[in-house]
Amino acid sequence: MAASGGRDWEKRTRYCGTLRKEDAGREVVLNGWVQTRRDHGGVIFLDLRDITGIVQVVCNPEFSREAHSSARSVRSEYVLSCRGVVRERPAEAVNPRLSTGEVEVMAERVTVINPSRTPPFEIEEGREVDENLRLRYRYLDLRRPELKEALVLRSRVTREVREFLSSRGFLEIETPILTKSTPEGARDFVVPSRLQPGKFYALPQSPQLFKQLLMVAGFDRYYQIARCFRDEDLRADRQPEFTQIDLEMSFVDPEDVMSLMDEMFVHLFREVLGVELYRPFPRLTWRQAMERYGTDRPDPRWGMEIRDFSGLYRDSEFRVFRSALEVGGRIRGFRVQGLRSPSRRELDELVEEAHRLGAQGLVWMVREGEDLRSPAAKFLSAQEVEGTLRESGLGEGEVLVLAAGGEEVGEVLSGLRDYCARRYFTRPREQYSFVWITDFPLFDWDEEEKRYKSNHHPFTSPSRECLDFLEENPSQVTSESYDLVLNGVELGGGSIRIHDAELQARVFRILGLDEEQAREKFGFLLEAFQYGPPPHGGIAFGLDRLVMIMAGKESIREVIAFPKTQSGTDPLTGAPDAIYPEQLGELRLRPV
Ligand code: AMO
Repeated sequence: MAASGGRDWEKRTRYCGTLRKEDAGREVVLNGWVQTRRDHGGVIFLDLRDITGIVQVVCNPEFSREAHSSARSVRSEYVLSCRGVVRERPAEAVNPRLSTGEVEVMAERVTVINPSRTPPFEIEEGREVDENLRLRYRYLDLRRPELKEALVLRSRVTREVREFLSSRGFLEIETPILTKSTPEGARDFVVPSRLQPGKFYALPQSPQLFKQLLMVAGFDRYYQIARCFRDEDLRADRQPEFTQIDLEMSFVDPEDVMSLMDEMFVHLFREVLGVELYRPFPRLTWRQAMERYGTDRPDPRWGMEIRDFSGLYRDSEFRVFRSALEVGGRIRGFRVQGLRSPSRRELDELVEEAHRLGAQGLVWMVREGEDLRSPAAKFLSAQEVEGTLRESGLGEGEVLVLAAGGEEVGEVLSGLRDYCARRYFTRPREQYSFVWITDFPLFDWDEEEKRYKSNHHPFTSPSRECLDFLEENPSQVTSESYDLVLNGVELGGGSIRIHDAELQARVFRILGLDEEQAREKFGFLLEAFQYGPPPHGGIAFGLDRLVMIMAGKESIREVIAFPKTQSGTDPLTGAPDAIYPEQLGELRLRPV
């Protein structure tokens, strides 16, 4: 055995996925896992895999009896060291699907470093495997190329973020994981303290307050690839622990933050994906987004902008429209793109979908020559038909969908837009659509609790022009806030913060927090603000969501090495788990 230093295996001289035609004739040592083993009578073919890819190893007894004989005992997922000579494959044996498909390695020696049990699922690209099983054996799942590629991509993204931000004077500073609850809105994960019995740390929902304190401390530009924890219901784009690209800057306005972030994403997409994005990214105010897309997370790639058709139907004979208008409602809708001369069934499905989304009803209209086919047709005047055709821009056979009602109609139409996009559109116009949403309302009215809540968080600054009517009309107050939306996914959000103690107190009062409560909750921040806080603002992006979109995945679980299931468990380690009674005792906790 040609090994040294007490090792009984040879160290690699090359990575599997890097071998090319130019390497023909070279002797190489490879270390890796057996993806597949095929015994073709006299000759055994092994596909050997490492982090860089796969190469075919040929164990021919006429070339090396020893290598062939070791390869006989080899099975999938065995770990091997192979010494051999790179050879160009004959033309008919070239595998165009492999980057190493033009070559193979003629094995001289095959050493089994470790055997493997038969894996519970086949480790192969694109194979459908139950997710619980995948997560239970995540280390095997991660051997699959698509997951490996996603994590490689993720690492490149964080590297480029660090590169960009440090080149712009940002300092990477860590903030505590064991901390006090921050008012981000979700439920906290808490950790009992042994040294302070009966007291609890909270895991951070974000480094929000600490990054603001760093601004008070004069750090000017901070960033962190920060772990955050939120105990909320999970979805495809939500995990209980996730990662933010978090940053904060002093002496800035929203424009400074947004334009720098435009630059960061241009850099990131160019360096990591080779995709050229155009700056500045489009912007919509929150009100415009709600009006045109019915959501603050629009995906403009699908077109189908929502429009207000109320003006056309003021005196309509069609009761559904007229009565909605009489009680102050509106008639809004959009032209469905990608659907032409639909069948009755397709139209019924649109109505069913609208019902599923919570609509009272949905009216469709299909252009037929200069006329409209619609359940409402017989109630529409010639003028209304003509106006509808003109304002909607309907082409022959195209469909307009209209819903009547209050502001809730926006949500239904937004859902219906998504449905139509999924159903009738195969390819978006561009691959990546970034859009900034600005000027969110500062407060949302909570009907259940009958009080105002922060739309973002309580430190978000109201827009300057709203300061005069803060108390009189809180629901009309907008804020110096901005969200970045990518392909209809909320990628990140931030704001300029309040740096004036008096204004902060006014906002707290509207939120129903008196001085005492405010002091109890975030006294340390308020105290720090007595010592010269600079004007500051920042933003945080969901790294998992960003990588999910860049990797073309449907769930952030596909870009996290060890994610939790939808029910917040980890089938690999068995977390969360019970703890020993002694541990409970030490923490002065009682079992339930
Ligand atoms: P926000 O709460 O909007 O802002 O969070 C910022 C971004 O973090 C991502 N995100 C999540 N990703 C995965 N799983 C989750 N459970 C989850 N929750 C949030 C989203 C979101 O846009 N401190 C403020 C930022 C600031 O004002 O600077 C904050 O945390 O992509």
